[in-house]
Amino acid sequence: MKEKLEKIKNEILENLAKVKSLEEWQNLEVKYLGRKGVFTEILRSLTGLSIEERKTIGKLANDIKLELQENFKNVAEILEGKKSVGFVDPTLPGIKLPQGHIHPMTIVQNELEDLFISMGFMVLDGPEMESDYYNFEALNIPKHHPARDMQDTFYVDKKNDEGELDLVMRTQTSSMQVRAMQKYGAPMRCVIPGRCFRSEATDVRHEHTFYQLEGVMVGEGISLANMKSVLETVAKHLYGPETQVRLRPKFYPFVEPGANGEVTCFICGGKGCRLCKDTGWLEIFGSGMIHPNVLKAGGIDAKKYTGFAFGFGLTRLVMLKYGIGDIRLLQSDDLRFLEQF
Ligand code: DAH
Repeated sequence: MKEKLEKIKNEILENLAKVKSLEEWQNLEVKYLGRKGVFTEILRSLTGLSIEERKTIGKLANDIKLELQENFKNVAEILEGKKSVGFVDPTLPGIKLPQGHIHPMTIVQNELEDLFISMGFMVLDGPEMESDYYNFEALNIPKHHPARDMQDTFYVDKKNDEGELDLVMRTQTSSMQVRAMQKYGAPMRCVIPGRCFRSEATDVRHEHTFYQLEGVMVGEGISLANMKSVLETVAKHLYGPETQVRLRPKFYPFVEPGANGEVTCFICGGKGCRLCKDTGWLEIFGSGMIHPNVLKAGGIDAKKYTGFAFGFGLTRLVMLKYGIGDIRLLQSDDLRFLEQF
């Protein structure tokens, strides 16, 4: 009996908590506490109990009825607007809502954009789906050139009038070099950060989608020394004033001479460690003096102007900066990863 009373009490309180109007309140009051209400019925049924039981259960039932009446009265007053819902402590900490934040790729991209803007560079955007011409041919990489093998890409399944596939997902931000020259001419300096794609068998170091940051500067008398100075400024900004830049010859079809750019390893300071594979150097960009053929494709007089171009592996910079061991995490949308930044 005792349990039954408690159960009914809880049920009534639960229903009372859901009441939203005086009308609902009235219906509930009649149903439970009215003359013919559930609770009155229960009290009546006590007559069948022994005197002893009637005493204890009767008292309990009465106590519960009083408690319920008190609760009903409270709710009525709240509904009539005579009473506020309860005490509100404004000094308690609020409920923290989940908030998004900037992706590590974007953090590093923004930082570099700011730096280049401070050096007078424009920041440009370019198409991710690009013509074979701008991605390869204009960059001195003719069809069937072996240099294409290194950048096996995704072709868009649509043939041109000559029956060739000529739309590709850009494999490099270098695709914007000629577009920028055609549009702005010389003198000009710009950077182009953006997404690139390659048909890769993915693993911890390879991903089909990644980011680069391209830079182009053309003008009268622009030399390799200018290029090294700009790249040194970037390296020192990224890894501190002690950082040095080392350029080593490397072939890229669109520059001559071309160079592989390395910076002093920021973990060991050049002594050699696991990150730099004991070399003391980290490879972070490709660069070189723009090939005359590329200047020509850009409509620039190669006899009057010279220029340099460079391309940073933006994804690689992010992985190095945050010590990310698996490139695939960056695009995984995994909150356990993203919430760490
Ligand atoms: N586009 C090259 C790549 O994806 C990187 C590069 C090398 C860019 C040399 C340049 C450059 O502008 O001059 O591997």
